[in-house]
Amino acid sequence: MSTGPNPTVKLRGGRPWTPGDRGDGTSADVLVRDGLVAAIGPEATEATADITLDCGDCVVSPGLVDLHTHLRQPGKEEAETIESGGRAAALGGFTAVLAMPNTTPTIDSAEVVREVLELGRSAPCAVHTSGAITVDRAGERLAPMAEMAALGVSLFTDDGSGVQDDALMRRALEYAGGLGVILAQHCEVTSLSQGTCMHEGAVSSRLGLSGQPAEAEELMVMRDIALSRLTGTPVHFLHLSTARSVDLVRQAKAAGQTITAEAAPHHFTLTDEACVGYDPLFKVHPPLRTPADVAAVKAGLADGTIDAIATDHAPHTPDSKELPFDQAPPGMLGLEYALALALTELQLPLDAVISLLSVRPAVIGRMDEQGRPVAVGEPANLCVIDPSATWTIDDTGGASRSRNVPYAGRRVTGKVRHTVCAGEPVVIDGAAQR
Ligand code: DOR
Repeated sequence: MSTGPNPTVKLRGGRPWTPGDRGDGTSADVLVRDGLVAAIGPEATEATADITLDCGDCVVSPGLVDLHTHLRQPGKEEAETIESGGRAAALGGFTAVLAMPNTTPTIDSAEVVREVLELGRSAPCAVHTSGAITVDRAGERLAPMAEMAALGVSLFTDDGSGVQDDALMRRALEYAGGLGVILAQHCEVTSLSQGTCMHEGAVSSRLGLSGQPAEAEELMVMRDIALSRLTGTPVHFLHLSTARSVDLVRQAKAAGQTITAEAAPHHFTLTDEACVGYDPLFKVHPPLRTPADVAAVKAGLADGTIDAIATDHAPHTPDSKELPFDQAPPGMLGLEYALALALTELQLPLDAVISLLSVRPAVIGRMDEQGRPVAVGEPANLCVIDPSATWTIDDTGGASRSRNVPYAGRRVTGKVRHTVCAGEPVVIDGAAQR
Protein backbone atom coordinates (compact mmCIF):
# COMPACT_ATOMS: atom_id res chain seq x y z
CA MET A 1 0.00 0.00 0.00
CA SER A 2 1.45 3.38 -0.92
CA THR A 3 1.55 5.99 1.82
CA GLY A 4 0.86 9.16 -0.14
CA PRO A 5 -1.34 11.91 1.27
CA ASN A 6 -4.83 10.59 1.83
CA PRO A 7 -8.08 12.29 0.91
CA THR A 8 -10.64 12.99 3.59
CA VAL A 9 -13.45 10.49 3.06
CA LYS A 10 -16.97 10.53 4.43
CA LEU A 11 -18.83 7.22 4.68
CA ARG A 12 -22.41 8.45 4.76
CA GLY A 13 -25.40 6.69 6.26
CA GLY A 14 -23.97 3.25 7.07
CA ARG A 15 -24.03 1.28 10.33
CA PRO A 16 -20.53 1.21 11.84
CA TRP A 17 -19.65 -2.24 13.22
CA THR A 18 -18.57 -2.73 16.79
CA PRO A 19 -17.71 -6.09 18.43
CA GLY A 20 -20.83 -8.02 19.42
CA ASP A 21 -22.89 -6.03 16.91
CA ARG A 22 -26.32 -7.58 16.46
CA GLY A 23 -27.01 -5.68 13.28
CA ASP A 24 -29.56 -3.46 14.97
CA GLY A 25 -27.25 -0.47 15.43
CA THR A 26 -28.32 2.93 14.20
CA SER A 27 -26.63 4.56 11.26
CA ALA A 28 -23.86 7.11 11.76
CA ASP A 29 -21.52 8.84 9.36
CA VAL A 30 -17.84 7.93 9.57
CA LEU A 31 -15.08 10.39 8.70
CA VAL A 32 -11.69 9.11 7.58
CA ARG A 33 -8.72 11.44 7.61
CA ASP A 34 -4.97 10.76 7.33
CA GLY A 35 -5.55 7.01 7.24
CA LEU A 36 -7.50 6.95 10.51
CA VAL A 37 -11.12 6.99 11.60
CA ALA A 38 -11.32 10.65 12.63
CA ALA A 39 -14.96 11.04 13.70
CA ILE A 40 -18.21 9.08 13.94
CA GLY A 41 -21.68 10.63 14.23
CA PRO A 42 -22.67 14.32 14.06
CA GLU A 43 -19.08 15.55 13.94
CA ALA A 44 -18.50 13.39 10.85
CA THR A 45 -21.79 14.55 9.30
CA GLU A 46 -20.83 18.19 9.65
CA ALA A 47 -17.25 17.80 8.39
CA THR A 48 -16.32 18.54 4.78
CA ALA A 49 -14.71 15.74 2.81
CA ASP A 50 -12.92 15.28 -0.51
CA ILE A 51 -14.90 12.12 -1.27
CA THR A 52 -18.32 11.07 0.05
CA LEU A 53 -19.33 7.43 -0.23
CA ASP A 54 -22.98 6.50 0.10
CA CYS A 55 -23.33 3.65 2.62
CA GLY A 56 -27.13 3.55 2.94
CA ASP A 57 -28.44 0.12 4.06
CA CYS A 58 -24.83 -1.02 4.52
CA VAL A 59 -22.61 -2.05 7.40
CA VAL A 60 -19.25 -0.31 7.77
CA SER A 61 -17.08 -3.24 8.74
CA PRO A 62 -13.40 -3.65 9.43
CA GLY A 63 -11.68 -4.67 6.19
CA LEU A 64 -11.46 -8.41 5.64
CA VAL A 65 -8.19 -10.26 6.21
CA ASP A 66 -7.15 -13.34 4.22
CA LEU A 67 -4.62 -15.62 5.86
CA HIS A 68 -4.24 -17.79 2.75
CA THR A 69 -3.69 -16.18 -0.66
CA HIS A 70 -1.67 -17.55 -3.56
CA LEU A 71 -0.45 -14.45 -5.38
CA ARG A 72 1.84 -16.47 -7.71
CA GLN A 73 4.52 -13.79 -7.85
CA PRO A 74 7.42 -14.34 -8.31
CA GLY A 75 7.31 -17.01 -10.98
CA LYS A 76 3.77 -17.58 -12.25
CA GLU A 77 2.75 -14.11 -13.34
CA GLU A 78 0.64 -15.54 -16.15
CA ALA A 79 -1.75 -16.88 -13.48
CA GLU A 80 -1.69 -13.91 -11.05
CA THR A 81 0.46 -11.01 -9.92
CA ILE A 82 0.59 -9.25 -6.61
CA GLU A 83 -1.16 -6.35 -8.30
CA SER A 84 -4.00 -8.39 -9.89
CA GLY A 85 -4.44 -10.53 -6.78
CA GLY A 86 -4.38 -7.37 -4.64
CA ARG A 87 -7.13 -5.89 -6.79
CA ALA A 88 -9.22 -9.05 -6.49
CA ALA A 89 -8.70 -8.86 -2.74
CA ALA A 90 -9.86 -5.24 -2.57
CA LEU A 91 -12.96 -6.06 -4.64
CA GLY A 92 -13.70 -8.88 -2.22
CA GLY A 93 -13.52 -6.47 0.73
CA PHE A 94 -10.05 -7.54 1.88
CA THR A 95 -7.71 -4.86 3.16
CA ALA A 96 -4.93 -7.34 3.92
CA VAL A 97 -3.75 -10.66 2.55
CA LEU A 98 -1.06 -13.10 3.57
CA ALA A 99 0.81 -14.47 0.56
CA MET A 100 1.62 -18.18 0.46
CA PRO A 101 5.25 -19.15 -0.19
CA ASN A 102 4.83 -21.74 -2.99
CA THR A 103 6.17 -19.38 -5.61
CA THR A 104 9.18 -19.74 -7.94
CA PRO A 105 11.56 -19.16 -6.31
CA THR A 106 10.01 -20.23 -3.00
CA ILE A 107 9.59 -17.52 -0.38
CA ASP A 108 12.22 -19.11 1.86
CA SER A 109 14.81 -16.35 2.27
CA ALA A 110 15.08 -12.70 3.26
CA GLU A 111 15.77 -11.82 -0.37
CA VAL A 112 12.46 -13.19 -1.70
CA VAL A 113 10.52 -11.83 1.30
CA ARG A 114 11.91 -8.36 0.49
CA GLU A 115 10.89 -8.73 -3.16
CA VAL A 116 7.30 -9.70 -2.31
CA LEU A 117 6.90 -6.94 0.28
CA GLU A 118 8.33 -4.39 -2.14
CA LEU A 119 5.90 -5.43 -4.91
CA GLY A 120 3.08 -5.38 -2.37
CA ARG A 121 3.61 -1.70 -1.59
CA SER A 122 1.77 -0.62 -4.73
CA ALA A 123 -1.10 -3.13 -4.37
CA PRO A 124 -4.56 -1.84 -3.38
CA CYS A 125 -4.46 -3.84 -0.13
CA ALA A 126 -1.81 -4.53 2.50
CA VAL A 127 0.34 -7.45 1.35
CA HIS A 128 1.96 -9.54 4.07
CA THR A 129 3.87 -12.68 3.32
CA SER A 130 4.41 -16.02 4.94
CA GLY A 131 7.74 -17.80 4.67
CA ALA A 132 8.45 -21.46 4.05
CA ILE A 133 9.26 -23.75 6.97
CA THR A 134 11.77 -25.76 4.93
CA VAL A 135 14.16 -24.78 2.15
CA ASP A 136 12.28 -24.85 -1.17
CA ARG A 137 9.37 -26.49 0.71
CA ALA A 138 11.23 -29.74 0.15
CA GLY A 139 10.73 -30.94 3.72
CA GLU A 140 14.43 -31.68 4.25
CA ARG A 141 16.16 -28.70 5.93
CA LEU A 142 14.74 -25.83 7.94
CA ALA A 143 14.57 -22.51 6.11
CA PRO A 144 16.27 -19.45 7.69
CA MET A 145 13.14 -18.44 9.59
CA ALA A 146 15.02 -15.95 11.81
CA GLU A 147 16.14 -13.78 8.89
CA MET A 148 12.59 -13.77 7.49
CA ALA A 149 11.10 -13.08 10.95
CA ALA A 150 13.44 -10.08 11.22
CA LEU A 151 11.62 -8.62 8.21
CA GLY A 152 8.25 -9.05 9.91
CA VAL A 153 7.23 -12.53 8.72
CA SER A 154 5.20 -14.01 11.55
CA LEU A 155 3.69 -17.13 9.95
CA PHE A 156 5.59 -19.95 8.30
CA THR A 157 4.18 -22.78 6.21
CA ASP A 158 5.12 -25.20 3.44
CA ASP A 159 1.56 -24.87 2.11
CA GLY A 160 0.90 -26.95 -0.96
CA SER A 161 2.41 -29.76 1.08
CA GLY A 162 2.78 -30.60 4.73
CA VAL A 163 6.05 -31.20 6.59
CA GLN A 164 6.18 -35.00 6.48
CA ASP A 165 9.11 -35.74 8.78
CA ASP A 166 8.02 -35.87 12.44
CA ALA A 167 11.43 -34.99 13.90
CA LEU A 168 11.91 -32.09 11.47
CA MET A 169 8.46 -30.74 12.36
CA ARG A 170 9.35 -30.99 16.04
CA ARG A 171 12.56 -29.02 15.40
CA ALA A 172 10.64 -26.46 13.34
CA LEU A 173 8.21 -25.96 16.23
CA GLU A 174 11.04 -25.53 18.73
CA TYR A 175 12.71 -23.00 16.43
CA ALA A 176 9.41 -21.17 15.86
CA GLY A 177 8.73 -21.10 19.61
CA GLY A 178 12.10 -19.41 20.19
CA LEU A 179 11.40 -16.84 17.50
CA GLY A 180 7.83 -16.21 18.66
CA VAL A 181 6.37 -16.98 15.22
CA ILE A 182 3.57 -19.35 14.27
CA LEU A 183 3.74 -22.47 12.09
CA ALA A 184 0.80 -23.23 9.81
CA GLN A 185 0.37 -26.73 8.48
CA HIS A 186 -1.12 -28.05 5.25
CA CYS A 187 -2.18 -31.40 6.68
CA GLU A 188 -1.64 -34.14 4.13
CA VAL A 189 0.34 -37.34 4.59
CA THR A 190 1.81 -37.85 1.13
CA SER A 191 2.26 -41.60 1.48
CA LEU A 192 -1.56 -41.76 1.53
CA SER A 193 -2.26 -38.99 -0.97
CA GLN A 194 0.38 -39.45 -3.66
CA GLY A 195 -1.09 -39.98 -7.11
CA THR A 196 -4.63 -39.14 -6.01
CA CYS A 197 -6.83 -36.39 -7.39
CA MET A 198 -9.97 -36.29 -5.25
CA HIS A 199 -11.54 -37.48 -1.99
CA GLU A 200 -11.65 -41.26 -1.58
CA GLY A 201 -15.20 -42.49 -1.26
CA ALA A 202 -18.29 -43.57 -3.14
CA VAL A 203 -17.95 -40.77 -5.73
CA SER A 204 -14.29 -41.49 -6.57
CA SER A 205 -15.14 -45.20 -6.98
CA ARG A 206 -18.01 -44.35 -9.30
CA LEU A 207 -15.81 -42.03 -11.39
CA GLY A 208 -12.85 -44.39 -11.45
CA LEU A 209 -10.58 -41.64 -10.11
CA SER A 210 -7.95 -42.34 -7.47
CA GLY A 211 -8.95 -40.85 -4.13
CA GLN A 212 -7.14 -39.86 -0.96
CA PRO A 213 -8.77 -40.89 2.29
CA ALA A 214 -9.81 -38.31 4.88
CA GLU A 215 -7.19 -39.96 7.09
CA ALA A 216 -4.41 -38.42 4.94
CA GLU A 217 -5.38 -35.10 6.52
CA GLU A 218 -6.45 -36.35 9.92
CA LEU A 219 -3.22 -38.20 10.70
CA MET A 220 -1.24 -34.99 10.31
CA VAL A 221 -3.73 -32.97 12.35
CA MET A 222 -3.37 -35.61 15.07
CA ARG A 223 0.44 -35.59 14.87
CA ASP A 224 0.73 -31.82 14.99
CA ILE A 225 -1.61 -31.54 17.95
CA ALA A 226 0.77 -33.96 19.68
CA LEU A 227 3.90 -32.08 18.59
CA SER A 228 2.39 -28.74 19.59
CA ARG A 229 1.73 -30.22 23.04
CA LEU A 230 5.27 -31.63 23.22
CA THR A 231 6.96 -28.36 22.27
CA GLY A 232 4.50 -25.92 23.83
CA THR A 233 4.39 -24.05 20.49
CA PRO A 234 1.08 -23.10 18.85
CA VAL A 235 0.13 -24.52 15.45
CA HIS A 236 -2.32 -23.09 12.95
CA PHE A 237 -4.19 -25.64 10.81
CA LEU A 238 -4.75 -24.56 7.22
CA HIS A 239 -7.93 -25.38 5.24
CA LEU A 240 -9.46 -28.08 7.47
CA SER A 241 -11.80 -30.23 5.41
CA THR A 242 -12.91 -33.34 7.28
CA ALA A 243 -15.34 -33.93 10.14
CA ARG A 244 -12.76 -35.77 12.22
CA SER A 245 -10.15 -33.01 11.70
CA VAL A 246 -12.65 -30.52 13.09
CA ASP A 247 -13.33 -32.83 16.01
CA LEU A 248 -9.63 -33.32 16.76
CA VAL A 249 -9.14 -29.55 16.91
CA ARG A 250 -12.26 -29.18 19.08
CA GLN A 251 -10.95 -31.72 21.57
CA ALA A 252 -7.44 -30.24 21.64
CA LYS A 253 -8.83 -26.78 22.30
CA ALA A 254 -11.06 -28.16 25.06
CA ALA A 255 -7.93 -29.68 26.59
CA GLY A 256 -6.40 -26.21 26.70
CA GLN A 257 -4.00 -26.34 23.77
CA THR A 258 -3.27 -23.10 21.96
CA ILE A 259 -4.03 -24.08 18.42
CA THR A 260 -5.99 -22.27 15.72
CA ALA A 261 -7.63 -23.37 12.48
CA GLU A 262 -9.12 -22.04 9.29
CA ALA A 263 -11.54 -23.34 6.65
CA ALA A 264 -11.87 -22.36 3.01
CA PRO A 265 -15.17 -21.31 1.38
CA HIS A 266 -15.15 -24.29 -1.01
CA HIS A 267 -15.05 -26.68 1.93
CA PHE A 268 -18.33 -25.32 3.31
CA THR A 269 -20.09 -24.90 -0.05
CA LEU A 270 -19.13 -27.79 -2.34
CA THR A 271 -18.97 -31.58 -2.00
CA ASP A 272 -17.14 -34.30 -3.95
CA GLU A 273 -20.36 -34.74 -6.00
CA ALA A 274 -19.21 -31.59 -7.86
CA CYS A 275 -16.48 -33.74 -9.48
CA VAL A 276 -18.93 -35.94 -11.40
CA GLY A 277 -18.40 -34.05 -14.67
CA TYR A 278 -14.62 -34.55 -14.40
CA ASP A 279 -14.27 -30.75 -14.52
CA PRO A 280 -10.88 -29.72 -13.05
CA LEU A 281 -12.46 -26.51 -11.75
CA PHE A 282 -13.51 -28.70 -8.82
CA LYS A 283 -10.08 -30.16 -8.17
CA VAL A 284 -8.48 -28.77 -5.03
CA HIS A 285 -6.19 -29.84 -2.18
CA PRO A 286 -7.44 -30.85 0.31
CA PRO A 287 -10.17 -32.26 -1.93
CA LEU A 288 -13.88 -31.52 -1.77
CA ARG A 289 -15.36 -33.93 0.75
CA THR A 290 -18.74 -35.44 1.66
CA PRO A 291 -21.91 -33.65 2.81
CA ALA A 292 -21.18 -34.82 6.37
CA ASP A 293 -17.75 -33.17 6.22
CA VAL A 294 -19.28 -29.93 4.89
CA ALA A 295 -21.77 -29.97 7.77
CA ALA A 296 -18.94 -30.50 10.27
CA VAL A 297 -16.89 -27.62 8.84
CA LYS A 298 -19.96 -25.38 9.13
CA ALA A 299 -20.52 -26.51 12.72
CA GLY A 300 -16.85 -25.84 13.49
CA LEU A 301 -17.16 -22.31 12.10
CA ALA A 302 -20.32 -21.75 14.13
CA ASP A 303 -18.98 -22.94 17.49
CA GLY A 304 -15.52 -21.32 17.30
CA THR A 305 -13.56 -24.54 16.76
CA ILE A 306 -12.49 -23.06 13.43
CA ASP A 307 -11.23 -19.54 14.04
CA ALA A 308 -11.14 -18.10 10.55
CA ILE A 309 -12.35 -18.33 6.99
CA ALA A 310 -9.36 -18.18 4.63
CA THR A 311 -9.83 -18.18 0.88
CA ASP A 312 -6.98 -20.41 -0.37
CA HIS A 313 -7.32 -18.24 -3.51
CA ALA A 314 -5.34 -20.40 -5.95
CA PRO A 315 -5.24 -18.97 -9.49
CA HIS A 316 -4.36 -21.33 -12.36
CA THR A 317 -4.31 -20.38 -16.04
CA PRO A 318 -7.21 -21.56 -18.24
CA ASP A 319 -4.74 -23.75 -20.20
CA SER A 320 -3.64 -25.65 -17.14
CA LYS A 321 -7.23 -26.12 -15.96
CA GLU A 322 -8.16 -27.60 -19.33
CA LEU A 323 -5.99 -30.66 -18.69
CA PRO A 324 -7.74 -33.92 -17.74
CA PHE A 325 -8.94 -34.02 -14.11
CA ASP A 326 -6.09 -36.20 -12.86
CA GLN A 327 -3.42 -34.00 -14.49
CA ALA A 328 -4.78 -30.49 -13.85
CA PRO A 329 -3.34 -28.47 -10.97
CA PRO A 330 -5.49 -28.22 -7.82
CA GLY A 331 -6.98 -24.95 -6.66
CA MET A 332 -9.77 -22.41 -7.18
CA LEU A 333 -10.27 -18.65 -6.93
CA GLY A 334 -11.76 -17.29 -3.73
CA LEU A 335 -11.05 -13.64 -2.92
CA GLU A 336 -14.06 -12.09 -4.63
CA TYR A 337 -16.56 -14.72 -3.42
CA ALA A 338 -15.62 -15.52 0.18
CA LEU A 339 -17.78 -12.94 1.94
CA ALA A 340 -20.92 -13.63 -0.10
CA LEU A 341 -20.48 -17.41 0.22
CA ALA A 342 -20.05 -17.09 3.97
CA LEU A 343 -23.09 -14.85 4.36
CA THR A 344 -25.19 -17.06 2.10
CA GLU A 345 -24.16 -20.54 3.22
CA LEU A 346 -23.33 -20.31 6.91
CA GLN A 347 -26.57 -18.90 8.31
CA LEU A 348 -24.54 -16.99 10.91
CA PRO A 349 -25.14 -13.40 12.07
CA LEU A 350 -23.09 -10.80 10.19
CA ASP A 351 -21.12 -10.15 13.37
CA ALA A 352 -19.91 -13.77 13.45
CA VAL A 353 -18.93 -13.62 9.78
CA ILE A 354 -16.94 -10.41 10.38
CA SER A 355 -15.17 -12.14 13.22
CA LEU A 356 -14.29 -15.13 11.00
CA LEU A 357 -13.19 -13.01 8.04
CA SER A 358 -11.53 -10.08 9.77
CA VAL A 359 -11.11 -9.96 13.54
CA ARG A 360 -9.73 -13.46 14.19
CA PRO A 361 -7.50 -13.74 11.10
CA ALA A 362 -5.98 -10.33 11.93
CA VAL A 363 -5.05 -11.63 15.38
CA ILE A 364 -3.66 -14.94 14.05
CA GLY A 365 -1.67 -13.14 11.34
CA ARG A 366 -0.53 -10.47 13.85
CA MET A 367 -1.78 -7.65 11.69
CA ASP A 368 -2.26 -4.95 14.31
CA GLU A 369 -3.78 -2.44 11.90
CA GLN A 370 -6.50 -4.83 10.71
CA GLY A 371 -9.67 -6.31 12.16
CA ARG A 372 -10.15 -3.39 14.55
CA PRO A 373 -13.49 -2.00 15.76
CA VAL A 374 -14.80 0.91 13.70
CA ALA A 375 -13.92 3.57 16.28
CA VAL A 376 -12.23 6.97 16.40
CA GLY A 377 -8.44 6.71 16.26
CA GLU A 378 -8.41 3.25 14.64
CA PRO A 379 -6.70 2.66 11.27
CA ALA A 380 -9.14 3.17 8.41
CA ASN A 381 -9.02 -0.32 6.91
CA LEU A 382 -12.68 -0.73 6.18
CA CYS A 383 -15.10 -2.55 3.98
CA VAL A 384 -18.67 -1.45 3.39
CA ILE A 385 -21.00 -4.41 3.05
CA ASP A 386 -24.52 -4.47 1.69
CA PRO A 387 -25.79 -7.57 3.53
CA SER A 388 -28.99 -7.92 1.51
CA ALA A 389 -27.75 -7.31 -2.05
CA THR A 390 -28.25 -10.42 -4.18
CA TRP A 391 -26.06 -11.24 -7.19
CA THR A 392 -24.97 -14.11 -9.41
CA ILE A 393 -21.35 -15.22 -9.52
CA ASP A 394 -19.99 -15.27 -13.09
CA ASP A 395 -17.16 -17.25 -14.64
CA THR A 396 -14.92 -14.34 -15.61
CA GLY A 397 -12.59 -14.58 -12.62
CA GLY A 398 -13.14 -10.89 -11.86
CA ALA A 399 -9.88 -9.01 -11.38
CA SER A 400 -7.81 -12.19 -11.26
CA ARG A 401 -5.62 -13.10 -14.21
CA SER A 402 -7.15 -16.57 -13.97
CA ARG A 403 -10.73 -17.73 -14.22
CA ASN A 404 -10.90 -20.98 -12.29
CA VAL A 405 -14.19 -20.17 -10.56
CA PRO A 406 -16.15 -23.18 -9.28
CA TYR A 407 -19.19 -21.10 -8.27
CA ALA A 408 -20.32 -19.67 -11.62
CA GLY A 409 -24.11 -19.33 -11.81
CA ARG A 410 -24.60 -19.45 -8.05
CA ARG A 411 -26.97 -16.84 -6.52
CA VAL A 412 -25.51 -15.27 -3.39
CA THR A 413 -26.54 -12.60 -0.93
CA GLY A 414 -24.17 -10.00 0.48
CA LYS A 415 -21.99 -7.69 -1.55
CA VAL A 416 -18.96 -5.50 -1.02
CA ARG A 417 -19.84 -1.93 -1.93
CA HIS A 418 -16.72 0.04 -0.99
CA THR A 419 -13.27 -0.85 0.35
CA VAL A 420 -11.10 1.71 2.11
CA CYS A 421 -7.51 0.69 2.63
CA ALA A 422 -5.25 2.77 4.88
CA GLY A 423 -7.66 5.66 4.38
CA GLU A 424 -7.82 5.41 0.58
CA PRO A 425 -11.02 4.32 -1.21
CA VAL A 426 -9.67 1.52 -3.41
CA VAL A 427 -13.13 0.19 -4.36
CA ILE A 428 -16.11 2.50 -4.85
CA ASP A 429 -19.56 1.11 -5.67
CA GLY A 430 -18.04 -2.24 -6.58
CA ALA A 431 -15.46 -0.77 -8.98
CA ALA A 432 -11.71 -0.95 -8.41
CA GLN A 433 -10.15 2.52 -8.38
CA ARG A 434 -6.67 1.30 -9.39
O1 DOR B 1 -5.64 -26.68 -4.12
C1 DOR B 1 -4.61 -26.18 -3.74
N1 DOR B 1 -3.93 -25.32 -4.51
N2 DOR B 1 -4.14 -26.50 -2.53
C2 DOR B 1 -2.92 -26.10 -2.12
O2 DOR B 1 -2.56 -26.40 -1.02
C3 DOR B 1 -2.04 -25.33 -3.02
C4 DOR B 1 -2.85 -24.57 -3.98
C5 DOR B 1 -2.03 -23.98 -5.12
O3 DOR B 1 -0.97 -23.41 -4.85
O4 DOR B 1 -2.49 -24.04 -6.25
